[in-house]
Amino acid sequence: MSVFDSATDGHEQVVFCADEDSGLHAIIAIYSTALGPALGGTRFYPFPGTDAALADVLKLSRAMAYKAACAGLDLGGGKAVIIGDPARDKSEALLRAYGRFVQSLGGRYYTACDVGTDVSDMDLIARECQFVTGRSLANGGAGDSAVLTAYGVMQGMRAAAEHVWGVPSLKGRRVGVCGVGKVGRRLIGHLLADGATVAAADIDGTAIERVRSEHPEVEAASADELPGLAIDVFAPCALGGAVNDQVAEELQAQVVCGAANNQLAHPGIDKLLYDRGILYAPDYVVNAGGLIQVADEIGGFSEPRARGQADHIFATTKLLFSRADELGIPSGQAADQYAEQRMTEVGRLRSLWLPDGR
Ligand code: NAI
Repeated sequence: MSVFDSATDGHEQVVFCADEDSGLHAIIAIYSTALGPALGGTRFYPFPGTDAALADVLKLSRAMAYKAACAGLDLGGGKAVIIGDPARDKSEALLRAYGRFVQSLGGRYYTACDVGTDVSDMDLIARECQFVTGRSLANGGAGDSAVLTAYGVMQGMRAAAEHVWGVPSLKGRRVGVCGVGKVGRRLIGHLLADGATVAAADIDGTAIERVRSEHPEVEAASADELPGLAIDVFAPCALGGAVNDQVAEELQAQVVCGAANNQLAHPGIDKLLYDRGILYAPDYVVNAGGLIQVADEIGGFSEPRARGQADHIFATTKLLFSRADELGIPSGQAADQYAEQRMTEVGRLRSLWLPDGR
């Protein structure tokens, strides 16, 4: 197998970056720039090896392209990983070296925060690079992207409720939220305000305690038992792969809708849920609020404008459910087709030459 088959997996460009003095080993993956510059966060994580880091960055950057396409943004999809333990290996020199690599791509890739990186890291990277978003409030940034992510997931869940129960509300429904970090606990706030009851699980006991101190009415459950409980909606808000074959088989819920990226352990789960009559709200469609926020920041952040765009997640999710019904296919597949259609149709316009070089 050639390096192009194994290393790029349909991507336009994969860049390996090394700066031995600072210890930087990073991979930047650009899946598509058909709709505009690729945007996606930088994950700083102690991957067990380069192969694992490469597999992760390729999967994540592809999902970013599909997410941007479904969100109606003029952005492509990319992602980056820095291999290492952020608690031990992160340094000014390493982040600035990384910033210089991002800069060297000349705007084909914009970076932002992800697991293991935060706004202060983006501020440092921005000292070497102009293609950075997700910055601190002091530097014109938009703040924590989990706010709009949770808001967008709620819009997607309301669309699912309308599709299944005929009303765009979770009132009187029992929702199981797995993972109550930055997004999950904010989602719980929206759900309670809408009149839902919530069962929540997290592997970190302090995260559950925090939620229960804010909302004592939330019921604590274990992460293993949550999918099997009598819930109406299962909301994976922890890491990827939460809906595996076993979970898909034992789920009592009629809807799966949560924030976690790549929440289906493999593509076949989409069909498995469909065959069981469980409506899956595609993860990259409903969790696009964070991307919408960092994308808006590039041109100078406006909270009302970004929130207005996140409101569209309701209509997009509904549209995809209808298309899936018309075509008799699972909703994840309908979302993929919608994204690919937009990348092809809008991307094709780039073949019309413009004098400013765009
Ligand atoms: P976070 O790190 O703040 O929270 C994740 C929570 O999940 C933590 O409390 C952790 O203890 C818990 N957790 C980890 N493994 C678990 C398991 N096996 N079972 C139950 N709980 C577990 O992360 P955040 O920002 O809330 O993101 C949640 C998910 O949403 C992630 O998959 C992330 O990629 C995705 N996402 C986040 C966005 C954002 O703006 N923060 C944007 C789009 C997607």
